[in-house]
Amino acid sequence: MCWICGAKKTGLPKFSVISSVLMSVLNLLLISLPLTRAGAEVQGHGGPVKSIMLSSDGYTALTGSFDYTVIYWAISPAGSKVIKRLIGHDGAVNSVAFVPGNALALSGSDDGTVALWQLGDLKLVTRLKGHSAKVSDVAASPDGRIAASASWDSTIRLWDIATKSQTAVLKGHRGNINSIVFSSDGKFLYSGGYDGTVKMWDTTSGDFIRTIYKHGWGVNVVRVLPDNQNLFIGTLDGAVNILDIESGRIVRRLKPHEGPVLASFVAAESGLAATSGGDGKIRVWSMKTWKLLYQYDDPYRPIWALSFSKNTGRVLYGGLDEHVLEWDFTSGKQFNEARRKIPRRFKFVNDEDLGTRQFARRCSVCHTVAPDGGNRAGPSLYRIYGRRAGTRAGYVYSRALKYSDIIWSKKTIGRLFNEGPAKYTPGSKMPLQRIQSKEEREALLAFLEKAGELVKKTTTVQSEN
Ligand code: HEC
Repeated sequence: MCWICGAKKTGLPKFSVISSVLMSVLNLLLISLPLTRAGAEVQGHGGPVKSIMLSSDGYTALTGSFDYTVIYWAISPAGSKVIKRLIGHDGAVNSVAFVPGNALALSGSDDGTVALWQLGDLKLVTRLKGHSAKVSDVAASPDGRIAASASWDSTIRLWDIATKSQTAVLKGHRGNINSIVFSSDGKFLYSGGYDGTVKMWDTTSGDFIRTIYKHGWGVNVVRVLPDNQNLFIGTLDGAVNILDIESGRIVRRLKPHEGPVLASFVAAESGLAATSGGDGKIRVWSMKTWKLLYQYDDPYRPIWALSFSKNTGRVLYGGLDEHVLEWDFTSGKQFNEARRKIPRRFKFVNDEDLGTRQFARRCSVCHTVAPDGGNRAGPSLYRIYGRRAGTRAGYVYSRALKYSDIIWSKKTIGRLFNEGPAKYTPGSKMPLQRIQSKEEREALLAFLEKAGELVKKTTTVQSEN
């Protein structure tokens, strides 16, 4: 079942007649409908979920998404509720973490910053700046005093949480760094990156200690096992290995994924560890015997985010869609539950017209054309023509758009993508992109004009089901 919207996968309407244009708009709509039904505000994410972290007591969770937001959740076996959507990043959120011992949280984003959030009054405290490329992972020390961030700028940075200042820049990796984790006592930090190495650092001095291990492929995830002597690592070639920190030797090789390992989780109390990958598989292992206990196969791969819920005894996971899903691995029901009926946003039919295809491929990951709610990383483009830039209610714009006097029309949106947002609306949060082909641009502009009308019709179809 969908953990965010509570929709049973089989409860969604089925359609027998597929008109290509209508269907693709419908696909966009259906994704947001179960979420909007609960109220006017869209609940849940408006883009792929990249990171999930359950609190240590299991009653709250943080999720980070491609839609630039972090959501703070209240979790219970009966259902989960949004406590607050935390808005403050200007790019996809790749990683989230609770800071132990105080009501703070961290998030790392494509915008190159680490956000520090106050969970008591649900506010952004500050954005820690220093990295020159995207922040791929964040972690907090067990005593809650140090924040660490890993970036594709080849550095790791340590931050003093109390003073909100940078204390060290850790240099040694070549290329992107993908994963960092503190040792259980907080004295060391372990990191893995594109250069295939796992490195060890001193968190007091910021000194490089040594390269523990070198793999032929990039290292995507590094976790510390509860014995504090071994690391659980997952790599780009799908390998899942147990690495002895002292000797730097692989002491056990687990069944590899058929694709990159994308997320992993270690639940000390339950004695379980899990991995997920680009192949859509989630595997749960016993840390005592390293036997594979459960395996789940989600046909809508990849699975980017993974966390255990102590309360419900389930795995929460997220991937390409905005839904955070639950898998009850103790039920014995494996492999079958994922045949969900939630339509895929990234499924295209080849005979759709050019404009629909342009919107689906280039825009739909960040925009819908839904009349109510429907904001993803960007605002809904429902009836965009005639609207002044930066005025859609309920969306937090950059200053560049908020104070712009552009009125959106075929001409101005045409210029936006002919010249690119960097030139036409400098300072905007919309990433750089241009559509150079005039034919494609015009098809897209025609689609945007039609979209509002189509939405009205498809809403009627929807309510008949
Ligand atoms: C990776 C995410 C992303 C993609 C892809 C994207 N946008 Fe955006 N878009 C945004 C964001 C974020 C904003 C808000 C910008 C701001 O506040 O500065 C935005 C704003 C806009 C606006 C201004 C809306 C308003 O209310 O003023 C228009 C128009 C727009 N986008 C059209 C498009 C179209 C058409 C496409 C596809 C060709 C597209 N965007 C692709 C993220 C995206």
